[in-house]
Amino acid sequence: MSAPAGLYVHLPYCASRCGYCAFVVTTDASSRERYLDALVTEAELLEGEGATGMPFDSIYLGGGTPSFLPGSDVARLLETLRGRFRVAPDAEVTLEANPEDVRNGAIAAWRSAGVNRVSLGVQSLADRELAAVGRRHDAAGARAALDRLTGAGLSVSGDLILGLPEQTSSSFRASLADLVDGGVGHLSVYLLETEKSKTIEEDRRLRPERYLSDDAQAELWLEMGETLGARGFAHYEISNWALPGREARHNLKYWKRAPTLGLGVSAHELWGGRRRANVSSLERYLSELGERRRPLAFDLPVSAAEAAREEIYLGLRLAGGVEAGRIEAFVGATEDVRLWEDFEGWVAEGILERRAGCVAFTERGFLVSNEVLSRFV
Ligand SMILES: C[S@@+](CC[C@H](N)C(=O)[O-])C[C@H]1O[C@@H](n2cnc3c(N)ncnc32)[C@H](O)[C@@H]1O
Ligand code: SF4
Repeated sequence: MSAPAGLYVHLPYCASRCGYCAFVVTTDASSRERYLDALVTEAELLEGEGATGMPFDSIYLGGGTPSFLPGSDVARLLETLRGRFRVAPDAEVTLEANPEDVRNGAIAAWRSAGVNRVSLGVQSLADRELAAVGRRHDAAGARAALDRLTGAGLSVSGDLILGLPEQTSSSFRASLADLVDGGVGHLSVYLLETEKSKTIEEDRRLRPERYLSDDAQAELWLEMGETLGARGFAHYEISNWALPGREARHNLKYWKRAPTLGLGVSAHELWGGRRRANVSSLERYLSELGERRRPLAFDLPVSAAEAAREEIYLGLRLAGGVEAGRIEAFVGATEDVRLWEDFEGWVAEGILERRAGCVAFTERGFLVSNEVLSRFV
């Protein structure tokens, strides 16, 4: 029997656009009702495809800003999904929230709709940094949101970004400590991807004094691992730390290649041995579903060779790594003749290590994981 599946729903609406964001989002809410209708139609089409026989044990409402939607929309959506798909009663149901939306009334609506986990976009707990990237919340607002969520008994994950303009080593350390003190059981820490935003990339070139150097970021990254380890968090994936039992069930499905469906504009899925993605244009998404067609941008079979490659570059993201026999067989058989040499080099340099029959990144190795993983993609 295959592992239970996961459902992802992309909700693209945001109150405003942040300087660094490259996700498919819109600040024009006028299509919101049509979008909800389109999601319901998409769920019906998937049911028609027979996708509903499979058990699902995770739902992830991502964005965009799912918390920006009225609680009644979240309830309608989750009710539709539970009605169309075989969702386990104890499924992990995550909603991404921005701190300014976390009010007691909203929390009550999410909880009664079946949300049991909130991923909170804290980004930083320093006002200067939040203002520098145009976030709508301040540090006090994020702390209040954390208090409300944990107080309501929800499982809370917090996102932080390392490398924000105006961030210093001590402000990052303080944000991290504050977030852990705030009661999160899970943390995602991302390195700011400046290439996703022309304005930030340009600013970093013109005013480098506003940014931590790459070396300072690397040092902080390693120090963060120790700090979080001492607080009981395990580093289980490149960007993710969790207290025991609090790993993100849904996100683990992507790294373990478990089946997932993706509904909504730009959503991706791995289903029935095929990788598929919806179009990134909101207009096209709405118009095609208006004609009851799934708006797929691509729909490709995954060959056995591609699946083996995916197992490696997705599996290596996890702290446990990939079975040594599998990666060695792949590296030995690939047409990329330099890969074997490079692989041995990564092991000799302590970027990868052999551990319990597997090959995995070391903590230092995670810092250069992009470079290594790009050789397997
Ligand atoms: C789907 S996004 C946004 C969710 C939510 N709307 C918010 O703003 O908090 C999920 C996470 O990706 C991270 N992120 C977005 N853009 C990024 C970038 N350019 N570099 C690094 N991390 C980024 C942020 O930490 C964010 O919380
Ligand atoms: S609120 Fe979140 S999803 Fe929306 S623009 Fe900002 S970072 Fe992107």
